[in-house]
Amino acid sequence: MNAESSAPTAAGAVGAARPRVEGRAKVTGGARYSADEPVPGLAFGAVVVSTITRGRVLDIDVAAVQDMPGVLGVIDHRNAPRLNPEAGHFFGPDGGLRLLQDDVIPHPGRPIALVVGETPEQARAAAQALPVVYDVQPHDTEFFFGHPAGRPASALFDGPVDVGDVDAGLAASAVVVDERYGTPEEHCSAMEPHSATAWWEGERLQAVDSNQGPYQIAVTLATLFCLPPERVRIRVEHVGGGFGSKGMCGPQLILAVMAATRFGRPVRVTLTRDQVFLATAQRPATDQVIRIGADADGRLRAIDHVAAFELSPLAEYIEGCTELTKTLYAAPAIRTRLTAVPLDILPPYSMRAPGAAPGSFALESAMDELAERLEMDPLKLRLRNEPVVGPVSGLPFSSRNLVACLRQGARRFGWADRDHRPRMRREGSLLVGTGLAATSFSTGAFPSTASITAEPDGTFTVVVAATDLGTGARTALTAIAADALEVGVEKIGLRISDSDLGPAWSAGGSRGTASWAWAITEAAAKMRGPERPATVTVDTTHLLGELPSRERHAYSAVFAEVTVDPATGEVRVRRLLGLFAVGRVINPLMARSQVIGGMVGGLSMALHEEGVRDPVSGRHVNPDFAGYHIAAHADVPDIEAEFVPDHEPGLPMGVKGAGEIGNVGTAAAIANAVWHATGVRQRQLPIRLDRVLED
Ligand code: MOS
Repeated sequence: MNAESSAPTAAGAVGAARPRVEGRAKVTGGARYSADEPVPGLAFGAVVVSTITRGRVLDIDVAAVQDMPGVLGVIDHRNAPRLNPEAGHFFGPDGGLRLLQDDVIPHPGRPIALVVGETPEQARAAAQALPVVYDVQPHDTEFFFGHPAGRPASALFDGPVDVGDVDAGLAASAVVVDERYGTPEEHCSAMEPHSATAWWEGERLQAVDSNQGPYQIAVTLATLFCLPPERVRIRVEHVGGGFGSKGMCGPQLILAVMAATRFGRPVRVTLTRDQVFLATAQRPATDQVIRIGADADGRLRAIDHVAAFELSPLAEYIEGCTELTKTLYAAPAIRTRLTAVPLDILPPYSMRAPGAAPGSFALESAMDELAERLEMDPLKLRLRNEPVVGPVSGLPFSSRNLVACLRQGARRFGWADRDHRPRMRREGSLLVGTGLAATSFSTGAFPSTASITAEPDGTFTVVVAATDLGTGARTALTAIAADALEVGVEKIGLRISDSDLGPAWSAGGSRGTASWAWAITEAAAKMRGPERPATVTVDTTHLLGELPSRERHAYSAVFAEVTVDPATGEVRVRRLLGLFAVGRVINPLMARSQVIGGMVGGLSMALHEEGVRDPVSGRHVNPDFAGYHIAAHADVPDIEAEFVPDHEPGLPMGVKGAGEIGNVGTAAAIANAVWHATGVRQRQLPIRLDRVLED
C-alpha cells in the first residue's frame, strides 16, 4: 500500500457501531485476567517493600518466617539472580528494573524481598511478619522549580526550541500573561492490580502478565535475565486498564521470574493496592512557567514555556510538558525549556497522556488568562491563532481539524450566549461558570508485524502481538482485518496478546491501533494480490521510514460547566462536552467510550487526583483508594463526546488514535470554568476545596 493513499473499504465493518467481541466473555465472567490463569502446582509470592525512603538494608531475618505455615522461602538481594544493568525501556537503561541486586534503598516502596508460599495468604502472612533492619539515610523528595539538582531533561523528544526572538516579542506585546502552574504526582490507578505468573517449560520461560505490550516486555525481560529473546514467551489475555503503568516490565513479573527460577515451580505475584501505588508507574509532579504575549487584537507574538518535572536518578524519563506549545498555536516566537529534577522517588513513567496532560493544563489556562486580560472571547482567541504549518517545525499538518472541533463544540454547548466576565452567574447559593480548552495529542505509528493465513474453510487467521487493555482493540482489529480482506467479520479469527506472535508496538502512546492496523492492512493487500499466498507475514518498519514528515496530531475542544459552592469550596462539574478529531473512527461505540473515559480522567486530574507526599518521611500518605481520590460516576452527571469528520492521509484506514486525547484539555477547561464561576484562577491542581476557599 502506498503510504499516502488510503484504500476504500468495501466490507464496511470499519465505522460500524459493533459491540465488543469479548463483551459476552467479560460480562459472564469467562474472560481471564492474568491472575485468573489456571496453572497446576502454583506457588504465590508476596512482595515486601521498603518502609524507609532512602538507606540500606542491614538485615532481613529470613529464619524468623522460614517455619511459618506454607512458606517455601524468601528471595532478597543476597540470593536473587543477577540482572543485566543494560535492560531498560523506551527511555534507556532503567535501574528501577534491577530489583534485589544490592542492599541499597533508593526510594520509598522499593521491593526488597519476595516471600514465596503455598497460598497467597501464607505468603502474605510471612511477608508481613518478616523482620527487616534498616540503616536510614537522609532523603530529598521535595520537588520545586529551581531545585539545585535540576538539569536539562533528556532531549530524546520534547527538546528545547528557540524560534524567533521571544524577549522582543513579549516586550512588543500589548498584553502579557506571566504565570506559574503546577500539577502533583498522580497515579495510573488501573482497576486490575499488576499480576504475573511465571514458570519454566524446559528451556523456555513462560509468563502470563498484566501489561500493555507482550512483545516489548518479553524483550526487556530477556535482556534483564540475560536470555535469548526466543526463550521468553509472555501472554496477556485480558487487561483491566493500564494507563501507562503496564507499559513497563513490572516488579510483579521480574519477581515472579526470580521465584519460578529459584523454586522450580510456577509462581504468581500479585501486587497489593498500596504496592501498585508505591512500586509501579506514576506521573511526576510538574512546575511550569508560561509567558504569552499578544497584540490587542489577540494575535500571539511570543510564547515562552519553561517546565520542570521530577524523576529518579535510577532511570531517564521525559514528562514532555512543552510539546503542545510547539504546535498548537501560531506565534512568531516560541521558546521551550524542560528541566528534570532527580529526587529519591520511584522512577516516574508514562501516565495517561504523559506530558500533554499537565502541559495543556498550563498552556490552556494561560491562554484563558490572556483572553481575560484582552477582554476577548477565549474561543475567538484560539481561532485567531490557528497555524497554517507547524509553528516550530515548519512542516505541513497531515490533517488539522481543531477549528471544526471548536466551532461545533461551541454550537452544541451554547457558547455564544456566554457572558465572558467572571462571577456573573448564580443559582441560589452556587456560582456557575463555563470554560473551554483546545488541545492536541501527537499521533503516528510504530513498526509492527502481522501475519494472515487463509484457512481451508474460507476463514482467515489474523495474528498480531497487540494487547486489548479494555479499550476494544480486539473488536477494532477484527473490523480492520475484515475490511482489508473484503470479507465479513465472521470470517476473521484474530489472535493477539502473545509475544510469540512477533514484534509489535504496545498499547501505548495512542499508537496501538494505527501501528497494528498498518501491519494488518499491508498483509491483507499481499494476500489479495495476484499470487494469493496461503500465509503472509509483513513488517512495517520500511513503510514507516517512507512516511513523509508531517505534523500528525489528533485534536479536541473540551467545554465544561461547573458549579462552585462558595461556602464549602466544592466544585461540581455539571456538563462536559468534548469534540474530537481522531482520524477515522473505527468503531464509534468504543471510540466514544474511550474518549469519555479520557475526559473522566481529565476531570479526575482537575479535581481529585494527588499523590500526597510527607516531606518528613518522604513517603506517600495516601497510597490507596481511600486517600487517593479518583472521579466516580457521581462526579459526572452529564458527559458527551462527539467526533468531527477527520482522516489521517498518511496511515492506512485514515487512523490517528483516540487513546489519550480525551485526557488532554479537560483539566484546563474545568479550571477555566472555575475561574469564570469565581473570578479566581486555580493554577495548582487538583482544585481542592481548601484551595477554592483560600481565595
Ligand atoms: Mo500510555 S500513558 O501511552 O500507556
